[in-house]
Amino acid sequence: MVDFTNLPTRKKAYGGANGSKLSVVYDNELYMLKLPIHAVKNPNISYTNSCVSEYLGCHIFNMLGVNAQETVLGTFEYHGKIRTVVACKDFTSPGVVIMDFASVKNQIIDSASNGYGTELNDILDAIERQNAVDAKALKEHFWNMFVIDAFIGNWDRHNGNWGFLYNQENDRMEIAPIFDCGSALFPQIDDEIIERVLASKAEMNARVFDMPTSAILIGGKRANYYQVITSNKYQDCTEAVKRILPRINLEEINGLIDSIQPLSNLQKRFLKKILKMRKELILENAILK
Ligand SMILES: Nc1ncnc2c1ncn2[C@@H]1O[C@H](COP(=O)(O)OP(=O)(O)OP(=O)(O)O)[C@@H](O)[C@H]1O
Ligand SMILES: [Mg+2]
Repeated sequence: MVDFTNLPTRKKAYGGANGSKLSVVYDNELYMLKLPIHAVKNPNISYTNSCVSEYLGCHIFNMLGVNAQETVLGTFEYHGKIRTVVACKDFTSPGVVIMDFASVKNQIIDSASNGYGTELNDILDAIERQNAVDAKALKEHFWNMFVIDAFIGNWDRHNGNWGFLYNQENDRMEIAPIFDCGSALFPQIDDEIIERVLASKAEMNARVFDMPTSAILIGGKRANYYQVITSNKYQDCTEAVKRILPRINLEEINGLIDSIQPLSNLQKRFLKKILKMRKELILENAILK
């Protein structure tokens, strides 16, 4: 793994609520270095695996044909300890800035909710009414993202975690690469929990059918990925499942998981098993139904 500790830094700063971020120059390019966050939900580990989730999540998006930011796993030493971090290649450029979906949603006059409101119907309404990019392409992108987030168990795809690149010179907008997959793939689970979960069918099933839920709300409640997708109530969602499912190659994904050095063998076993289950029980089930 790359050691990012002594790289030249830049003054550029990044927002977000999940952990410290630095900008570093690596391989002559600007990267946002994401440091791991404290594990608030699990007192047995001090830091989460959010950096591995970012790396693995973004790679899975790319494997499934949805453009995601380029990520590199590495180490960074601070407070006398070497920790796993992820470097995300900065996808902005001079004159081209990130504009999240929340900002574009704010342009919709008389929208039923504000930019950060994630009620599904309001999001779909804003997608139809925005004029940043082609509405059909954006709708496809949204559902592709929803389906892949369901596959990788992403808890946090709020309206600030996807969006556009805005070119200030020519006033053009394009869909931005996927970023922020740090809350996917069960980042707070440790070996002790995994041992218990892997040994219990009910615990594994709960991690497919019940959790994590989506940041998208339906009727004010966080959507259940399994229920939404297998209900086939949203035709565009079902179409996205049909597009994405045939692209999922579990052997290729398992190979990627095996190549991730900081993961324990138990973590690797858990991730492979849960992804297989989520593919079969959520996505394949939707098509069978
Ligand atoms: N590859 C990138 N290039 C340029 N800017 C980026 C990139 N990735 C993220 N950003 C910007 O940095 C912000 C913070 O990044 P990110 O969303 O990954 O952090 P976070 O702390 O996990 O966020 P959250 O509060 O949603 O959990 C993003 O909202 C986005 O504006
Ligand atoms: Mg974010």
